[in-house]
Amino acid sequence: MYSTDILVLGSGIAGLTFAIKSAIHFPEKKITLITKADESESNTKYAQGGIAVVHNEINDSFEKHITDTLKAGDGLCNTEVVEMVVKEGPQRLNEIISWGVEFDKDKEGKFYLGKEGGHSENRILHFKDITGLQIEEKLLSIMRKLPNITVLNHHFALDLITEHHLKINTNKPTCFGAYVLNKRNNKVETFLSKITLVATGGMGQIYRTTTNPLIATGDGIAMAYRAKAEIKNMEFIQFHPTAFYDLKDNPAFLITEAIRGAGAYLRDKNGERFMLKYDQRGELASRDIVAIAIDSELKKTGADCVFLDCTHLDKKLIEKQFPTIYNQCKAKGIDLLKDYIPVVPAAHYLCGGIVSDKHAHTTISHLFVCGECAYTGLHGANRLASNSLLEALVYAHHAFLHTQKIIENIHFNFSVPEWDAEGKIEPEEKVLIKYHLNELKNIMNDYVGIVRSNERLKKASDKIYAMHLEVEKIYKTTIISQPLCELRNMIAVCTIVIKHSMQRKENKGGFYNINLVSQ
Ligand code: FAD
Ligand code: SIN
Repeated sequence: MYSTDILVLGSGIAGLTFAIKSAIHFPEKKITLITKADESESNTKYAQGGIAVVHNEINDSFEKHITDTLKAGDGLCNTEVVEMVVKEGPQRLNEIISWGVEFDKDKEGKFYLGKEGGHSENRILHFKDITGLQIEEKLLSIMRKLPNITVLNHHFALDLITEHHLKINTNKPTCFGAYVLNKRNNKVETFLSKITLVATGGMGQIYRTTTNPLIATGDGIAMAYRAKAEIKNMEFIQFHPTAFYDLKDNPAFLITEAIRGAGAYLRDKNGERFMLKYDQRGELASRDIVAIAIDSELKKTGADCVFLDCTHLDKKLIEKQFPTIYNQCKAKGIDLLKDYIPVVPAAHYLCGGIVSDKHAHTTISHLFVCGECAYTGLHGANRLASNSLLEALVYAHHAFLHTQKIIENIHFNFSVPEWDAEGKIEPEEKVLIKYHLNELKNIMNDYVGIVRSNERLKKASDKIYAMHLEVEKIYKTTIISQPLCELRNMIAVCTIVIKHSMQRKENKGGFYNINLVSQ
């Protein structure tokens, strides 16, 4: 049994920011951060475009950022939350700058503000095209200097501990920590904690084509669902319009929207621009509109991909702002100053998740959530580009503030049972997990993709349910492993995505079912 004051699950921007703030404020308390891979591995590390924050008050304003966010969210955002996040953005940004996080500046020392789809002004602060890597590395380096944080990498959280494990019935569960698989010795360890934060990120890996790294398997949401936390808006999966088209890649390499912000065009297989047929903002319409437009062009023409044309852009700008993308394309035989880049939409971001109030508190006592696995009400039916790093910073701060209020009043005087592994045997065939995983990704891509229908959703529901029955049998009888638990979690989150998709009665933002009307 391992005891800690604060348990953080996940080492992306959300988990790290919360852990750092808590460790600085409570030097006498023990903070434990567990993460399932190397600590830098996260969606955060791959963020390209940057952070949307109002910075240039001459052209920009909170009102404009709020309006853009609400417009992208297509009527489903919580306006109070949007106002709160946008207005607190500059403070949170200045805080990470004071910690040493850097953003590109122009010759006069002013931040170089980029533009992305759905933004009416240039307001994206970035560090070249590797904003996320820079943030992740800086936060990790700060965390490593704080003596009261223990980081346990290659530790995989399996389940949240609640009254259910103590065999107590309750309608209002409390979280007491988590069961965690220590991948170094393959033992399940019990982590008791006064406060637990779920910051396990998204779940793009449920799709065949995704920009998300392999860690994005929806574990935190599946754990919270099993613990009976409220989960909302899971039908709203955001597809990024422009991932490099190469069927061999997992994850698919993202070509940042900022490059369209700098003037790149989308072209069909005949070299014609097509976005203006769909939206007067053209290539800079919000992401849901551009992804649906590309999907429609691909279906009409039967082509495998569309193309991003950067050939008219300034060479110096590309070299300065997009060096990673330039080099990655080059490695794939595309010189983006001369050739068109083949691109397709790819699953990119989850707008729904574990319900969080304004304090980042879930519907389970002492359980907080922030980052991509949270549903706060900021994004509504479609996230405005570069609003997620911002949301993670603001909500990590709120989780920290509320932790301060409640932690001193939390005391445990009971024991929690160890993980029960009795009677479990080594699985005979591990290949089954791989087989089911491939099938799951194909089902989600083919039946629960950008454009859905009642018939496709029903088919997906039946197939995923059949898979659920088979995988539960394996889970109940064999010794657990990370791949098996990830598959089980992915089945759980797919089930929720399909269920919420079937319940939705009108098309909104990133959700499009051909059998429903659009408003
Ligand atoms: P993550 O950064 O994904 O971190 C999750 C952590 O949880 C990881 O450390 C993971 O290993 C750990 N974890 C997961 N499951 C378990 C488990 N069972 N046990 C233990 N640990 C676990 N957003 C923007 O605002 N601007 C951008 O420019 C931008 N660009 C993007 C580009 C790409 C290619 C991608 C994929 C996303 C981009 N996003 C961007 C989205 C943004 O990066 C993410 O939403 C954000 O980083 C999520 O942060 P997080 O802390 O919630 O989760
Ligand atoms: C991008 O750089 O295009 C991704 C930005 C985001 O997902 O917010």
